[in-house]
Amino acid sequence: MQNSLSSDFISEIVRKHNNDPQQLTAILHDVQEASGQNYVAKEWAGQIAGLLKLPIAHVYEVLTFYSMFSTVPQGRVLIEICNSASCRFNRSQELLGWCREELGIGVGEITPDGEFGIVYTSCVGACDVSPALKIGDDVYGNLDRSKFTQLIASFRENRPELREPLICQS
Ligand code: FES
Repeated sequence: MQNSLSSDFISEIVRKHNNDPQQLTAILHDVQEASGQNYVAKEWAGQIAGLLKLPIAHVYEVLTFYSMFSTVPQGRVLIEICNSASCRFNRSQELLGWCREELGIGVGEITPDGEFGIVYTSCVGACDVSPALKIGDDVYGNLDRSKFTQLIASFRENRPELREPLICQS
């Protein structure tokens, strides 16, 4: 399931950011997005370090410091479930149960086909519609069981029109 990015493709991303070491976070973000599995493999980080003429240790430090980055595959569609107070008080455990029923996985796991992964995140600023979850740049709240099923189906079937009405914030 591990995806691979060619060294040419990584060089192209770095070039897009003018080979600028100040752009390291943005470069890692773009590489993670391009991976198709929401991660930056350690060997890619090594290549980025070489291209930016930065110590590898520094690139690893940035990669492991920010929770938005992962060095292991997290699934093509990463479901980030808010684990902060409002959501916890407001049925976020139910969301986890629905994930288990729909996808057969829990937090920190990915489906065998690599399509979906689940992680916890902290408050995504949608407490008024909690429990909330985030997928990509979009936040979903006020979910009930059937809306959740619709949301998952929209990604499974690659039908964005099904999820657009469910988005609370972009
Ligand atoms: S506590 Fe979950 S969105 Fe704020």
